[in-house]
Amino acid sequence: MKHLFIQGKEKNGLTLLLLHGTGGTEQDLLPIAEMVAPEANVLSVRGNVSENGMPRFFRRLAEGVFDEEDLIFRTNELNEFVNEQANVYGFDRSNVIAIGYSNGANIAASMLFHHKDSLKGAILYHAMVPRRGISLPELKDVSVFIGAGEQDPMIPAEQTKELAELLRQAGANVEEFWQTGGHQLTRDEVVESKKWLETYLT
Ligand code: MLT
Repeated sequence: MKHLFIQGKEKNGLTLLLLHGTGGTEQDLLPIAEMVAPEANVLSVRGNVSENGMPRFFRRLAEGVFDEEDLIFRTNELNEFVNEQANVYGFDRSNVIAIGYSNGANIAASMLFHHKDSLKGAILYHAMVPRRGISLPELKDVSVFIGAGEQDPMIPAEQTKELAELLRQAGANVEEFWQTGGHQLTRDEVVESKKWLETYLT
C-alpha cells in the first residue's frame, strides 16, 4: 500500500498508524501525529480504494452504507500490511495505535472488530459502527478514544454511542469526547486525544 514511515525517537516505542478520511492522502494526518505524539514512529497509509479518484480504505454503496465484503477484505489487507511493515521498518507490532478520521476511523474500528491483537489502542475521530451482528474479539487490553460532534450530519449521536458500547462490551477501555460541531475534526478533539494518550498509554 502507498505509505510513508517516519522513525520516531525510539524505534521500539509507540507507532502511530495514520488513516485519512475520504479523498485524503498519507500526508493529511501528519500535523495531528506531530501534535498528539511528536516522538512516536509514524506509519501513514493511503487507502487502496478509489471512489471517483478519491482514496478510501474500503468501498461503500452509498454515504454511510458500506460494502461489507470489501470492508472485510480491506481490513485484513491493512492488518497484514501493518504486520509486514513492522518487519520492514523494525517497529514493535504490539505497540501500534491507530489515529483515524472518518473513513480512516471506520477501518481502524473495523480492525478492532475483526482482529484481536491488531491495535493497542485507537483514536477514532468521527467513526461509525463498521459492522453489526458479529462477535468482537476480546479487547480488554485495548484503549479507545472517540471524538464526536453532536451535530455530525453523517453520524447520529446514537451511532457513536453504539460504537462505544460495542467496544466496551468487548472489554475495551473507551473514552468519548463530544463537541458541539459537525463532522469536521476540531482542535479541541486533538488536544483531548493527546491528553488521553498521555494518561492511558504512555
Ligand atoms: C465512510 O464511508 O467511511 C463514511 O461515510 C465516512 C466518509 O465518508 O469518509
